[in-house]
Amino acid sequence: MSSNFSTLSSGRLLITGGAGFVGSNLAVSFKRKYPKLEVVALDNLKRRGSELNINRLKNHGIEFIHGDIRNKEDLSFQNRNIGTIIECSAEPSVLAGYGGSPEYLINSNLVGAINCLEAARKHQAAFIFLSTSRVYPMAKINQLHYQEEETRFSLLADQPFPGASENGISENFPLEGSRSLYGATKLSAELLAAEYAEMYDIKSVINRCGVIAGPWQMGKVDQGVFTLWMAAHYFKKDLRYIGFGGSGKQVRDLLHIDDLFDLLDYQIQHPNQFHQQIYNIGGGLETSLSLVETTGLCEEITGNKISIRSEKANRPADIRSYISDCAKIKAEANWRPERSARQILIDIHNWIHENETALKNILR
Ligand SMILES: NC(=O)c1ccc[n+]([C@@H]2O[C@H](COP(=O)([O-])OP(=O)(O)OC[C@H]3O[C@@H](n4cnc5c(N)ncnc54)[C@H](O)[C@@H]3O)[C@@H](O)[C@H]2O)c1
Repeated sequence: MSSNFSTLSSGRLLITGGAGFVGSNLAVSFKRKYPKLEVVALDNLKRRGSELNINRLKNHGIEFIHGDIRNKEDLSFQNRNIGTIIECSAEPSVLAGYGGSPEYLINSNLVGAINCLEAARKHQAAFIFLSTSRVYPMAKINQLHYQEEETRFSLLADQPFPGASENGISENFPLEGSRSLYGATKLSAELLAAEYAEMYDIKSVINRCGVIAGPWQMGKVDQGVFTLWMAAHYFKKDLRYIGFGGSGKQVRDLLHIDDLFDLLDYQIQHPNQFHQQIYNIGGGLETSLSLVETTGLCEEITGNKISIRSEKANRPADIRSYISDCAKIKAEANWRPERSARQILIDIHNWIHENETALKNILR
């Protein structure tokens, strides 16, 4: 292992969901920065398009294991020391479970996360958990006070709940209320991670991420909206503004995957500082876009204009706006997002352009 990769303990870096968007990018970035570090990417290839990452991982010297976190045996790594686990495997759609069985969602996101924690306990490995802004209850987010502006809904300074302001939602936002089964599985896993950290002295950090975006995200209608938007412009397909009046003014902050890497790298280098902490992580107000604003940037970058229909009715589990208030992490870490929203969309565009043939049947 490279001497300047001071993992929380010695050993390999295991990235679960390592062929997914976040996992594969983190694997490649860690290997690039620390060439001597052994990086193992484990994935069951459930997400369509993840298979495209297998060769990419191998070409970067990363070991790929076709495994499933629902099976404890796949995580046993007998006679192989694991130093750090970054848990990036999930069914990441907030719509998962609606109109069907929640079995896969619960078994993967919760039981699977427990299996990862067990692996961390057995290996005394550090545990970095990719949680989500969706742990915060939907109804309360939609009850926040907004002002309707020309291109977006903007949060006002004066809000009915603690932890909310014009800068977004902080870790002090209340947790009571329904949050979708996706959010519930992630929050449950957070609670268990906290107990494992305390009881078994596992170094752990929980990052509640807003939208993460960038190349290698296989965007679809229910997850990966910025790739979906750029791909529709690139391949000239129709889109819809769904919900909240159908005007496309709903807002999300977005964080470049490379900014996330910079943060996790920093957290891993400072294990004691971040131990047992929970952070809201995202692009924040400065790096946020409404759908209408995203359309403008996509038109500018691709030179294409497409038809976008309007559907007034809300989709289940949808929220009007989410902006991560990252004041806590910014105060505690030498980190802040460096890549702009425009840069993120340009990077997605360039990735689609370079991989057009492979992607055209996946990014629909
Ligand atoms: N992308 C975002 O905007 C975002 C935002 C907040 C949190 N997150 C979290 O980040 C993590 C990564 O998300 P992503 O965007 O890379 O999603 P993704 O779907 O691109 O990647 C997840 C990967 O996990 C794999 N997987 C699913 N079930 C598995 C199982 N049982 N065993 C092994 N692998 C399995 C999938 O095949 C996929 O490759 C998730 O935990 C998600 O909840 C993502």
